[in-house]
Amino acid sequence: KRIVVLASGRGSNFLAVASAVSRGMINGRCVGLIVDRPGTLAAVRAGEHGIPVFTIDYSVFSTKSAYEEELIGTLRSLAPDLVVLAGYMKILGSGIIREYVGRIINIHPSLLPSFPGLDAQGQALAYGVKVSGCTVHFVDEGTDSGPVILQRCVPVLEDDDPGILAERILAEEHIALPEAVALFCSDRLRILGRTVIRLPDDS
Ligand code: GRF
Repeated sequence: KRIVVLASGRGSNFLAVASAVSRGMINGRCVGLIVDRPGTLAAVRAGEHGIPVFTIDYSVFSTKSAYEEELIGTLRSLAPDLVVLAGYMKILGSGIIREYVGRIINIHPSLLPSFPGLDAQGQALAYGVKVSGCTVHFVDEGTDSGPVILQRCVPVLEDDDPGILAERILAEEHIALPEAVALFCSDRLRILGRTVIRLPDDS
């Protein structure tokens, strides 16, 4: 399967997927990384794995639709079987979502549906939950609202601050996202309404 990853910054989730591909854990290959700004660490990490980087700099486009046209053109040229949003900080327009629905996934640092949107870790601390974690889900036209594929939990501790909690969750993201990508690339995920079914590993 052809995998395209979208990232915006550090790229540690992208690296987790690229590393899992390199280790033969995923029945696919990363054919491109798309970043929304120049100079990201994600781009450097892609270079280390020999993965082509496409910088579609959000700030140079006069309108969101011009940005999306460039983005969808690049996606179509890469012909992905799976689009992975790995720390991608832009909201995708409905045109792109519709074109890739069912084969676009996202990783979010909370147990959805709790704490969608930005600063999920800070939201969790402010609410006072005792458990948080991360969610890999199929992307639909809502915000962090598509069918859930995988979740992993972490404890929220007394002296946590958003940074400490984010680090604890990030370690689980690096397990959950590659696992979800591997399941998708082995055709073991089925979406039935809102639920995602994992088929047995018949290998
Ligand atoms: C991750 O916590 C991800 O869940 C969130 O933003 C962060 C990106 O981290 N969307 P990285 O760029 O993958 O290191």
